[in-house]
Amino acid sequence: MRVELFDEPIALFNLDGEILATQDRCTHGDWSLADGFLENGVIECTLHWGKFCVRTGKVKAPPACAALTVYPVKVEGNDVYVDFESGKVND
Ligand code: FES
Repeated sequence: MRVELFDEPIALFNLDGEILATQDRCTHGDWSLADGFLENGVIECTLHWGKFCVRTGKVKAPPACAALTVYPVKVEGNDVYVDFESGKVND
């Protein structure tokens, strides 16, 4: 799902119960990833089919060539906390 933090779109993914967060802009074409296809921890962009690991943000398939920013997530009950300031890019 897509959320906004400080005017930045963030994509939240549920990976078998583990919540992960990345930037919600594909690095190839500024396209939302929140509506992409998630399989085995890899999100596929719906515009040109680039793929990214949602855990590390690393590119898994072209035409994307730059990694996503990933954010630490903490879940407490029904609340999801994204540490926006600790986002990092794993190149
Ligand atoms: S916009 Fe995502 S792969 Fe091109």
